[in-house]
Amino acid sequence: MTHDLNQTFKQILFYSFSVFFIFSCGEKTKRTEAAPEISERVNDTFFQEPFRPQFHFSPEEKWMNDPNGLVYHQGTYHLFYQYYPEDIVWGPMHWGHATSQDLIYWDHQKVKLFPDEHGYIFSGSAVVDHQNSSGFGTLENPPLVAIFTYHNAEMAEKKRIDYQTQGLAYSLDNGQTWTKYKNNPVLNNPGIIDFRDPKVFWHEDSKKWIMALAVKDHAEFYASPNLINWSKLSEFGKDAGAHGGVWECPDLFRLKVEGTDTYKWVLIISINPGGPNGGSASQYFIGDFDGSVFSADHEDIKWIDHGADNYAGVTYDNAPGGKKITIGWMSNWNYAQQTPTVKWRSAMTLPRELSLVSEEGKYWLRSKVIDAFNKLLIPIKEIESYDLKETFKFSDERLELSQTTFRTKLSQDLSFKLSNDLGEFVMFRIDPEKMEMSFDRRESGKTDFTENFADKIHILPYHVSEKEVDIRIILDRSSVEIFADKGKYVMTEQIFPNSPYTELEIKTEKETLLTPININQIKTIWKK
Ligand code: FRU
Repeated sequence: MTHDLNQTFKQILFYSFSVFFIFSCGEKTKRTEAAPEISERVNDTFFQEPFRPQFHFSPEEKWMNDPNGLVYHQGTYHLFYQYYPEDIVWGPMHWGHATSQDLIYWDHQKVKLFPDEHGYIFSGSAVVDHQNSSGFGTLENPPLVAIFTYHNAEMAEKKRIDYQTQGLAYSLDNGQTWTKYKNNPVLNNPGIIDFRDPKVFWHEDSKKWIMALAVKDHAEFYASPNLINWSKLSEFGKDAGAHGGVWECPDLFRLKVEGTDTYKWVLIISINPGGPNGGSASQYFIGDFDGSVFSADHEDIKWIDHGADNYAGVTYDNAPGGKKITIGWMSNWNYAQQTPTVKWRSAMTLPRELSLVSEEGKYWLRSKVIDAFNKLLIPIKEIESYDLKETFKFSDERLELSQTTFRTKLSQDLSFKLSNDLGEFVMFRIDPEKMEMSFDRRESGKTDFTENFADKIHILPYHVSEKEVDIRIILDRSSVEIFADKGKYVMTEQIFPNSPYTELEIKTEKETLLTPININQIKTIWKK
């Protein structure tokens, strides 16, 4: 039901903006120069609006959704993203752009891909074409190639079903200027409404480019020698995984299982609605890919993040050391367009490195905030061992931007609370009876901008109780990210407190628990 509403809402927007853009995009595609570096523009008011994240990426203004075209090239990490430069709600999609040397400090760049006669620019990916297989560059200067979905709103309005196709653009100056391929689209629509979000990678064994595509209720895989001509290989998922909503934003990659010589393939699929705590979320499958067909090893449903606010995350192409680094959109289609910000809307998650472990005879993904993040930490309080038979309480203005770490046993109840002087709070709990972690934001601050932001406590079931684990909780004014057991259990959640959270409490009903507690302040990335 919610899905239908969401889709209907998006459709109405698609239709109503189409005519305007068909006529106005030709000239706009030329606006591609870089914006001035952030360091030249910061002052005391820059990025100081209420709720503005201080160490997560957010656009300077207007609407943002999915991360797109995540690629590393010649020392620069690119972050493109779904962007509507005219308003703080979803509209005709462009690719906004930001760059970083370390995935921590970002420079905002000018909008790079504008809608054209084929449609809006929906989500997609970018690769470094090292061998110049596409012929757009040279071996000495390999092109960056972006493959994205064209969404033709005019066709959609005419009730056609084949309005989503895949288009291509390339850059020969490391992402600063882009040329759209003259014979776009490179992949036509076979007659299906949801046909989008191409994620492309080079498959070394078969020496081919592979594209994973989200097609309504399944993923499809395509192959190409040159990024231009694509042929269909296979389908996966009609009868696997969660199906509470439409499949979107796939990603397929190989990871080594930690501590072994085994490699497995991971397929990430975002789904909206149908997430474990309502609305949008990302599930994943572990299995094998033989260059043509993906098969999963398991029947259970696995979620990358059980929080309400991590969607459409995919991994970087060409990241140094072959690392699999992901960034997600820190929101949820359930309420993304209603959150109480004014100048801009929504932020990205912190960049997280994915790893694969084998436990209890199953494979699990772990998400760990990239190590470079640690350079933002300033120690506030370090306790070697605290006995929780007395509640731990700490009050400090700097908590508003902070990281708290401690250890606990999953067989022990525990609650962790952040609150402000208005009595607003969030609570993270571990309940060993139910074998559940949970996050409660019902009294977190502004919640009434929509019905389903604070309607229930969010739940994360866990699997092994006899284990001591690390807990890491990161607060950035309007978001909380929780990582337990080295990132096997993750919850990412937005909050909108009416005054900053400056108090912290950790307690257990059990008699005793000894834990180290470390609290760090986190520096803003918007001042260098
Ligand atoms: C996911 C998504 C994608 C689509 C884009 C449109 O959030 O719906 O499937 O390409 O957003 O903005």
